[in-house]
Amino acid sequence: MDWGKANRMSKVIKPDGKCFYLAMDHGYFQGPTTRLEHVGNAAVPLLEFVDALFVTRGVLRPQIPPATNTPIILRVSGGTSMGGGDLSHEGVTTSIDEILRLNVSAVGISVFVGSDYEHDSILNLADLVNECEPYGVPVMAVTAVGREMEKREARYLAMACRICAEMGASVVKTYYCDNFEKVAQGCPVPVVIAGGPKTDNDLEVLEFVWKGMQGGAIGVNLGRNIWQNDQPRAMARALRSIIHEGSTPQEAFEIYNTFEH
Ligand code: R5P
Repeated sequence: MDWGKANRMSKVIKPDGKCFYLAMDHGYFQGPTTRLEHVGNAAVPLLEFVDALFVTRGVLRPQIPPATNTPIILRVSGGTSMGGGDLSHEGVTTSIDEILRLNVSAVGISVFVGSDYEHDSILNLADLVNECEPYGVPVMAVTAVGREMEKREARYLAMACRICAEMGASVVKTYYCDNFEKVAQGCPVPVVIAGGPKTDNDLEVLEFVWKGMQGGAIGVNLGRNIWQNDQPRAMARALRSIIHEGSTPQEAFEIYNTFEH
């Protein structure tokens, strides 16, 4: 691996081999999501706990301080909305010139395996890898399910992750599921897990992150279960303790409950 890509990879996967990404890209197809109306205001208090921030260029420029030390993973796919039809009909939204101009550490793109637009979606990933590799920019593939939440099971996710890796993704983001080992073991590049909709139970979030990491994930790309929590800084601190400090869910829950703001 060339120095440039190795340097970028070192920003998004820490020396312990783990990572904590804060996902705040939801507006790219959902609009002003609850508690993410102003991404900058929601992000800045959390940056000290995370390893990278996942946003679009349209939020990065006006709302994230350019002096931040937090690496940026840039969301570079889109073209659909919750108000429209098939969410899988995405394209690449951001040129390689923009990616380099914004000095980001990696880019992220959704891939809708098994959808009506599977062919375009997988080739979007391959084309993006072809654009980014010469400049040493790692690509994170997001195994997206659109509105089909029932797809979040091991057989489907293992297939989707493996295909993303085979197309050249450097990291794959997927969902935690039963038999998660099957997903991680079948994927030749590191896997991180997303959270999905906010749960009612805070301990449950800590448990599925812990279980995902026991099953082979190297970390998380987590959004709503952090910034829709009433105590987002406490949740981010607790998650950090699982990802980088080896806490059990119970130990992390104690950190969450005793966090001093
Ligand atoms: C989904 O496509 C979004 O891009 C998010 O980055 C991802 O789902 C992680 O966020 P959450 O934990 O809220 O699901």
